[in-house]
Amino acid sequence: MHLSVKNLSHSFDYPLFNDISFELPSKSSVSITGGSGSGKSTLLHICSTLLKPNRGEIFFEGKSLYKLNADELINIRRNDVGIIFQSHFLFKGFSAFENIELSSVLTGLPLEDELLKKLGISHILKQKPGDISGGQQQRVSIARVLSKKPKIIFADEPTGNLDTSTAAEVTELLFDYIKSNNAVLFLVTHDLNLAKRCDMSYKLENLELKDF
Ligand SMILES: Nc1ncnc2c1ncn2[C@@H]1O[C@H](COP(=O)(O)OP(=O)(O)OP(=O)(O)O)[C@@H](O)[C@H]1O
Ligand SMILES: [Mg+2]
Repeated sequence: MHLSVKNLSHSFDYPLFNDISFELPSKSSVSITGGSGSGKSTLLHICSTLLKPNRGEIFFEGKSLYKLNADELINIRRNDVGIIFQSHFLFKGFSAFENIELSSVLTGLPLEDELLKKLGISHILKQKPGDISGGQQQRVSIARVLSKKPKIIFADEPTGNLDTSTAAEVTELLFDYIKSNNAVLFLVTHDLNLAKRCDMSYKLENLELKDF
């Protein structure tokens, strides 16, 4: 997967970014940091098929996302894109296992025990999201995303609820995943050390993406 972001601008009540561009080649990662309200999640939503920008284009493998028809966009969203949201969006009435199983049902890919072990959630699979900790919910949502084998992972504060050592393990898993699956990682984080571990690190500030 190769992601190109070209001349993107977007505003809500106030302008968030103006004319930003960057490239994310296969197996590489980019991090976006910046103050609260600077537009990081909005940028992630635009790049991940969820929100059409006011101006500019997003290309997946050279295809301009928002010029595709609705069916093509849905297929890309279903098969290629994995989004780890800032809030987990787990289904409350389903067990952890059923939540993860959902993406396998959609894609027809088998669930890998190894992934559940690495995330340290094998023992809580029967429990409902309300009965597990915030960090465990976060890891269930990461398992759900990775088990559909996305080509591009969008992660919005994926380690926000995790203690330092679990955060490091989960991050390692995401970096390993993109290397072994020719995928790419788009990471929004407040953790500057984690941000620096990406191939490219940008800060969203004063409408621009600055190297940091
Ligand atoms: N759908 C929307 N409609 C109107 N305004 C929105 C919408 N989504 C976001 N905003 C506004 O855009 C601004 C940027 O929001 P965004 O969620 O992108 O910030 P962020 O950098 O991710 O912040 P945080 O670090 O707190 O998560 C905020 O002022 C927010 O209220
Ligand atoms: Mg945000």
